Amino acid sequence: MNRTRRLRKTENIRRLVRENRLHIDDLIYPLFIEEGKGIENEIPSMPGIKRFSLDTLPKELDEVTKLDIPAVLLFGIPSAKDEIGSETWNDQGVIQQAIRLIKKHYPDLYVITDVCFCEYTSHGHCGIIHDNDVDNDATLVNLAKQVISHAKAGADMVAPSGMMDGMIATIREALDNTGYPNLPVMSYAVKYASAFYGPFRDAADSTPSFGDRRTYQMDPSNRDEGMREAHFDDQEGADILMVKPALSYLDIIRDLKNNFDRPVACYNVSGEYAMVKAAAEKGWIDEKKVMMESLLSMKRAGADIIITYFAKDVARALKE
Ligand code: PBG
Repeated sequence: MNRTRRLRKTENIRRLVRENRLHIDDLIYPLFIEEGKGIENEIPSMPGIKRFSLDTLPKELDEVTKLDIPAVLLFGIPSAKDEIGSETWNDQGVIQQAIRLIKKHYPDLYVITDVCFCEYTSHGHCGIIHDNDVDNDATLVNLAKQVISHAKAGADMVAPSGMMDGMIATIREALDNTGYPNLPVMSYAVKYASAFYGPFRDAADSTPSFGDRRTYQMDPSNRDEGMREAHFDDQEGADILMVKPALSYLDIIRDLKNNFDRPVACYNVSGEYAMVKAAAEKGWIDEKKVMMESLLSMKRAGADIIITYFAKDVARALKE
C-alpha cells in the first residue's frame, strides 16, 4: 500500500522532507515615518506597529537590526500635503531625511522606499488628478522626480506602488540617466484594489477623499490580467515583481513564479495582519501558529520575499 504517513512519523523525518521554510532572510519590514518630533504612536488597527518621527526611529532600527531583519520598506507621512504631492521630491522631505539617517547609522540595513503619492496628496489619490481621475502620463513625470530624490538620498532600492502604466520604464530611464544604473526597482506589479488595505490607510493617512482606486488598481476578479501586468513590468526592466495583497492572491504568486525569471515578492498587507492580531486578542486563534502558517503559505505559493508587519514577531519566533 502507498503509505504517505511513513514520512510523517517523527519530527526529524518531517524535518528531512520539509519542502518550504520561513527564514529571516525572506523578510522586509515596513516602517511608517512621520514628520515631526517625539512621535511614537501605535496604529489602533495594527497592534505593535507605530508611526515614528526621525528622533524616535533609532530605537526601532536598533531592534530591527538586532533581529537581523535584512531590509525595511519606508512610507512617509508629511506634515503638509498638496494637490500633486510635490513634497515627495523634496530633498529635505521626511523620507529623504530618514534614508540619510538610516544609511549613516545602520549602513548595512537595506533601505527600500515606497514610491507613490497617496500619502502626499490632499485628495489621497496616487497621482495628479485631471477630470476626476488620475492622469497617468502627468503622474509619470513626477514619479521620475521622486525616485531621483530617493536615489540621491541614498536609497538602496525603489518600489513604485501606484499602478501607473509605464511606471517601470519611466523610473528605469530616470535612474539610468542620472547616474543610478545599478539601483534596482521592485515593482508592485500586480496590485489589486483591495479592502485589505483599510488599516494601512489609517496608518498612512491616505484614504482617497473621493472615489476609489479602481481605475488604476486591479479588479480582484482577474487573474490573466495579472500576467499582463507582470509581463509589462518584466519587459520594462523591473528587478523584482510583487503581488499585493498576499493571502487572497496566492494563485497569482504561483503564476508569477512559474512564468517569470525574476524574484517574486508578496505584500502581506495591513488587513491580513489586523485580522490575525484581532482574532488572537480575542483568544480565538493561536497567534504565532497562524502567523507562521499563513506566511509559510506564501512561500509555498512561490514567494521569494515577503513584506510583512510580522517581521519582528517572526524573527523572534524563529529564534525560539
Ligand atoms: C500605496 C500603498 C498602499 C499600501 C502600500 N502602498 C495602499 C493603497 O493602495 O491604498 C498598502 C499596504 C498595506 O495595506 O499594508 N502607496
